[in-house]
Amino acid sequence: MKIFIDTANIAQIEEVDSWGILDGVTTNPTLVAKESGDFRTNVRRICEIVGGPVSVEAMSSKADDIVKEAKDLAKIHPSVVIKIPITEEGLKATRVLAKEGIKVNMTLIFSANQALLAAKAGAAYVSPFVGRLDDVGQDGMDLIVEILDILDNYDFGTEVIVASVRHPIHVAQAARMGAHIATIPYDVLKKMFKHPLTDIGIERFQKDWEKVTKR
Ligand code: E4P
Repeated sequence: MKIFIDTANIAQIEEVDSWGILDGVTTNPTLVAKESGDFRTNVRRICEIVGGPVSVEAMSSKADDIVKEAKDLAKIHPSVVIKIPITEEGLKATRVLAKEGIKVNMTLIFSANQALLAAKAGAAYVSPFVGRLDDVGQDGMDLIVEILDILDNYDFGTEVIVASVRHPIHVAQAARMGAHIATIPYDVLKKMFKHPLTDIGIERFQKDWEKVTKR
């Protein structure tokens, strides 16, 4: 499973990239709003760090405007992927952009049918938001199973990005289900390599090794 970080924070991206496990980045308007500096400069810098797909959201509502905005965003760097919310206009724009070789990450997916339509329109990625479904009392990971089952039946080439990840269990479940990608916030990534028994084990080995070196 590919691991993306869900942030627009350059320091976080640099740190996680240095671990050697980072395949891409997703941003959204809320994440971008938290960061200072020029938006396009930041996106270019992120693309240079990661060397994988970097999703950036188009904010227009009408298909023609989305296409125009997407083409402009795509000029920032070849790694830029355009995030488009699933709407009728978004689907129209996705079809046009896909034909022109601009990759789309269809976002705010909350149902299997939305994912199916996105894939048919030519989206390179679909982003089901599991945490936000959990928040309203629906098991978000069930939607991932449903979408993976559907996409497995056909040859769309669309990859599933498990999004709105809230804790490490979401990530392990996503990998077990065979999701293509999980986009993970920095704090969840940090929790993924932590285990109290690992810390205790390291401490014990250090102490015992001291005895060996003091001999
Ligand atoms: C996905 O691409 C989104 O940026 C993100 O995962 C949304 O997560 P949230 O529900 O925690 O805002």
